[in-house]
Amino acid sequence: MGGMAPETTPYAQMGGAEFFAALVHHFYAGVAADPVLRAMYPEEDLAPAERRLRLFLTQYWGGPTTYSEERGHPRLRMRHNPFVIDDHARDRWLDHMRAALDTTMVEQGLDPALEQQLWSYLVGAAIAMVNAAPADSPAGLTMHQEPQ
Ligand code: HEM
Repeated sequence: MGGMAPETTPYAQMGGAEFFAALVHHFYAGVAADPVLRAMYPEEDLAPAERRLRLFLTQYWGGPTTYSEERGHPRLRMRHNPFVIDDHARDRWLDHMRAALDTTMVEQGLDPALEQQLWSYLVGAAIAMVNAAPADSPAGLTMHQEPQ
């Protein structure tokens, strides 16, 4: 039997189900209160989107693989193609995620090295999700990045 014992995954070290539930819940409370981001979410009820992000992050950091059992390969850039994500949207997403992480750390604590790993990943992933030039730039009128 290869692989890491469950207690050695970053998921478990960060605080497991409780940590990711709190992080994503705080994040979606921020999205719900943000008119720009809220308008991008197609469903009236944000709970299913909250669950998908929680399950994705859980799986990414070594927790249960329910996300892929339900949704298949993440293909996150492709799944974000229907949404126009420019630098501004990315920054708003990251601002809400930073605030959610700060709140969750106050509530539950988090090892600083794990916090750094998690935050670097989130920043990199958010940058990778940008698929549109700013609406107010000349390029924004004509140019879209191709999906990778
Ligand atoms: C950069 C700014 C971002 C914006 C504006 C954005 C916006 C959205 C929107 C509107 C949805 C559809 C809601 C739903 O039906 O689930 C979505 C889905 C999702 N997003 Fe993002 N997102 C961003 C970045 C990210 C990042 C960085 C991650 C991962 C670290 C991520 C992970 C997901 C996941 C897992 C889903 C559900 C995919 C599925 O299974 O259908 N998003 N996002």
